[in-house]
Amino acid sequence: SLIVPSVQELAKQPITNIPPRYHHVQHDHQQRLAPDTSTASVPVIDLHCLFAQASDSSAYSFELNKLHTASKEWGFFQVINHGISESLLEDFRREILNLFNLPKDEKQKLWQEEHNHEGFGQLFVVSEEQKLDWSDMFYITTLPHNLRKSQLFKKLPLILRDKLEAYSLEMKRLAHEILNQMAKALGMDTEEMSELFQDGVQSVRMNYYPPCPQPELALGFSPHSDADALTILYQLNETAGLQIRKDGKWVTVKPRADALVVNIGDILEIVSNGVYKSVEHQAIVNSNNKRMSVATFYSSNMGIELGPARSLVAKHNVANFRRVPLEAYFKEFFARKLDGKLYLDFMRHKS
Ligand code: SIN
Ligand code: FE2
Repeated sequence: SLIVPSVQELAKQPITNIPPRYHHVQHDHQQRLAPDTSTASVPVIDLHCLFAQASDSSAYSFELNKLHTASKEWGFFQVINHGISESLLEDFRREILNLFNLPKDEKQKLWQEEHNHEGFGQLFVVSEEQKLDWSDMFYITTLPHNLRKSQLFKKLPLILRDKLEAYSLEMKRLAHEILNQMAKALGMDTEEMSELFQDGVQSVRMNYYPPCPQPELALGFSPHSDADALTILYQLNETAGLQIRKDGKWVTVKPRADALVVNIGDILEIVSNGVYKSVEHQAIVNSNNKRMSVATFYSSNMGIELGPARSLVAKHNVANFRRVPLEAYFKEFFARKLDGKLYLDFMRHKS
């Protein structure tokens, strides 16, 4: 990534026009500004029904079917009764806010360096001409331990490090539980799913979207699909901004204090042999309120070869994607500008 200025600092200036580098002119404004008239909303899954009910009960099969349908048709769902403690969520939220409010020179020490995308900054910036997003982010690899940048970890405020550690383990546990249910819903060998994700790669991305004087020109996060397997998003305040592409429209996800947003990434679309969909999404900004969120990305074990699950290929009798080492997949991904689902198409077998 190239080094970019802080949008949080820029937004503190008394500006009424945003710099051209933040103009997403190619964007379809009409579509973004039209009131969200769709009655459809992202499905809500009650995880208590999946984790605590007998698997032969009707409550269980009803909820599992909801999870399956949401993963196929939306690529997104919200989870309630997720079991993450309210105090951990609240503590982590407060420490993230403190991180973004650190004095400028303290933050400078945590800024991305060239050839290292971890820290404060923006990801996927590959040219000076490229449009920038109206947001700052802090990105860090959390698991497995041997992939951590220990220099960066050491520089984090102690309480944040502590909360991040606890949150990271909880997100890993939750991701595994959801993936296990998905294996059942897909008719995939659950052992195969566990093996693929044993010691999986996890990274955390904290997002800060300052209020924007020209929200109709800017984007908080350009449209993209996630490269990982499963993303869990915690929205830190009630300001809406996340939009999902659904039937050719952008559907806004209304934040719910009791829910986390889960979405399928490219890796899981590939592993599920195309049954589950990694869906494009974006974040918009507004002129009144800042918005904050934290996305936790979970991917398979770095040592695996990425491809459709063998237990599914045997069943469907067809593999819809190629096989590549996961490491090569990631290398390719970070070298690109985020651009819809181009990379997933590159993995697709052409018939
Ligand atoms: C994303 O992670 O793609 C969007 C994050 C957000 O909704 O803030
Ligand atoms: Fe995303």
